[in-house]
Amino acid sequence: MFESKSGIFFIAGLFFFAFAFLSNAVVPMLMYRDLPEKTVAELVNPNIRYQFEDMAQRYPQQFKKHYGEPPEDPQQADAWYNEKCAEAMKLGRDWYVGEGCWHCHSQFVRPVSNESLRWGPVSESEEYQNELQRPVLFGTRRVGPDLSREGGRRSTDWHAVHLFAPTDLSPDSPMPAYPWFFDGAADKPNKRGLAVLTYIQWLGSWLESYPYYEDYDESPVAKLEQLEQQAEEEEKTEAEKSAEE
Ligand code: HEC
Repeated sequence: MFESKSGIFFIAGLFFFAFAFLSNAVVPMLMYRDLPEKTVAELVNPNIRYQFEDMAQRYPQQFKKHYGEPPEDPQQADAWYNEKCAEAMKLGRDWYVGEGCWHCHSQFVRPVSNESLRWGPVSESEEYQNELQRPVLFGTRRVGPDLSREGGRRSTDWHAVHLFAPTDLSPDSPMPAYPWFFDGAADKPNKRGLAVLTYIQWLGSWLESYPYYEDYDESPVAKLEQLEQQAEEEEKTEAEKSAEE
């Protein structure tokens, strides 16, 4: 066996398989052994919260009908939005799995072929250590683009129209339409629709740089903070002015 070329290739093949298993499975497993798995509630971040509240204003009637109304007290409203947002993310993921979106969309930016130029930062193991990645949704086919950095890349309205009738926005798209995510029109997403929209906008929202990979200046949250700061400074200078007078 060792005298033939095929014998050598066979042994080499086994060796490389064992080596890949060690480096790609055993080492990461040992590295992240102590990293706790994040729950859905822990996955709610300011970026997705912003998108979720934006949906409440964008589709007020549909939102109220399917998720209710926030309490008036701001602190209670904050907790309420967090809770509903987590609920929507979980439900959205369930529909993403149920509708087989993962047949056509991967959720893994690989460190090869300049994928990071096309889709954003290369995926890291840690990003998959959470409840919404059970089972993991890496996907094995890419009929459509990778979605792991989809959040913030397009507006919620764009996604709503696209889910309602993909060919309206992408004329030759083979992606199926999902009219059952809506109450008859693209601007009337129902509970599932709102959930899937939330899930799509969540993808990649955990990155600090979100979503710099699309030439956006800043994330909406950063922009809000900037505006608030500006307003504060203006107030200060005005107060100073009136004090001088
Ligand atoms: C039959 C394969 C297929 C299935 C199933 C599918 N898609 Fe797609 N999807 C595509 C293709 C191809 C594109 C690119 C063309 C286009 O924009 O429609 C796409 C594009 C998209 C985009 C836009 C990406 C971008 O920024 O350009 C999103 C978001 C998306 N799909 C989400 C979904 C969701 C959510 C589901 C499940 C409810 C789903 N897809 C199911 C094939 C599919």
